[in-house]
Amino acid sequence: MQDLLTLKELTQEQFKSLLALAKQIKASPQDYAQALAGKSVVMLFEKPSLRTRVSFDIGINKLGGHSLYLDQQNGALGKRESVADFASNISCWADAIVARTFSHKTIEELAQHATVPVINALSDLYHPCQALADYLSLAEQMDDLSQLRLAYVGDGNNVTHSLMFGAALLGAKMTVICPEGHFPDGLMVAQAQELAAQYGGEIVLSSEIDKIEGHDAIYTDTWISMGDTTKLDDIKNKFAPYQVNAALMAKAGASFFMHCLPAHRGVEVTDEVMDGAGSLILTQAENRMHAQNALLVTLLAK
Ligand code: CP
Ligand code: NVA
Repeated sequence: MQDLLTLKELTQEQFKSLLALAKQIKASPQDYAQALAGKSVVMLFEKPSLRTRVSFDIGINKLGGHSLYLDQQNGALGKRESVADFASNISCWADAIVARTFSHKTIEELAQHATVPVINALSDLYHPCQALADYLSLAEQMDDLSQLRLAYVGDGNNVTHSLMFGAALLGAKMTVICPEGHFPDGLMVAQAQELAAQYGGEIVLSSEIDKIEGHDAIYTDTWISMGDTTKLDDIKNKFAPYQVNAALMAKAGASFFMHCLPAHRGVEVTDEVMDGAGSLILTQAENRMHAQNALLVTLLAK
């Protein structure tokens, strides 16, 4: 494993090993307190972040490493100097690059020109660190994730893409329910379905909210992602039937609610569900750090 850009580049074994290591680090952090001693990680963000920035920064510190946050103080990435030059210069000093960019192409370019591992901290197409933490959160609830029936409801986006590849690698069942015109990328759906078939899983797409029946967990995300200029007023009627509320949870028979956050309370999800007994949102947030630490230990322990 060289980089983590999508999640689909992992083998089933690598994915399961990362989840197992994350559990171990979470249970015995003292055993990893020097795992990144002497290592520095550059964190480059083109978009806002709470969870990703803080969980990487504090997580790296807990592993005995050092992190450096770079925002756009030098102007937009690729303007003052090329992304390629930026990546090769950072590789002179840092041991890894964590990057949140508008375009996934920028992450690919960073990975192509960096000589150190590059970790995608969210692009327009993928959010692999989120999916790692989400499956870790589910693994804490269920012994055998191949039995998982996960429903993703709402806008087919970066989070959906990485979740689909995770479900496929685990051989789980995932139903993606979106309004017409808001499905995840067709090519990625096909790739995820092919991968799922290899491992005995299934990825099903539908715009019928009735397909929610018979799932263990319902996952949703914002209806408008960062960088998308759609106005909420223009889509809210179309998305309204896809709001996760108590009635939808009951119809699904779902024990768990999941959201990567930030959430828009009263829009894609109600307060009642966000704050309800089966809500895993804070577990997911906490597990960002443990999952990412497992990833850093794996990528940098060479
Ligand atoms: N879930 C997530 O990535 O949150 P941030 O945008 O706050 O980092
Ligand atoms: N889909 C959201 C995820 C935020 C963590 C976005 O890209 O804005």
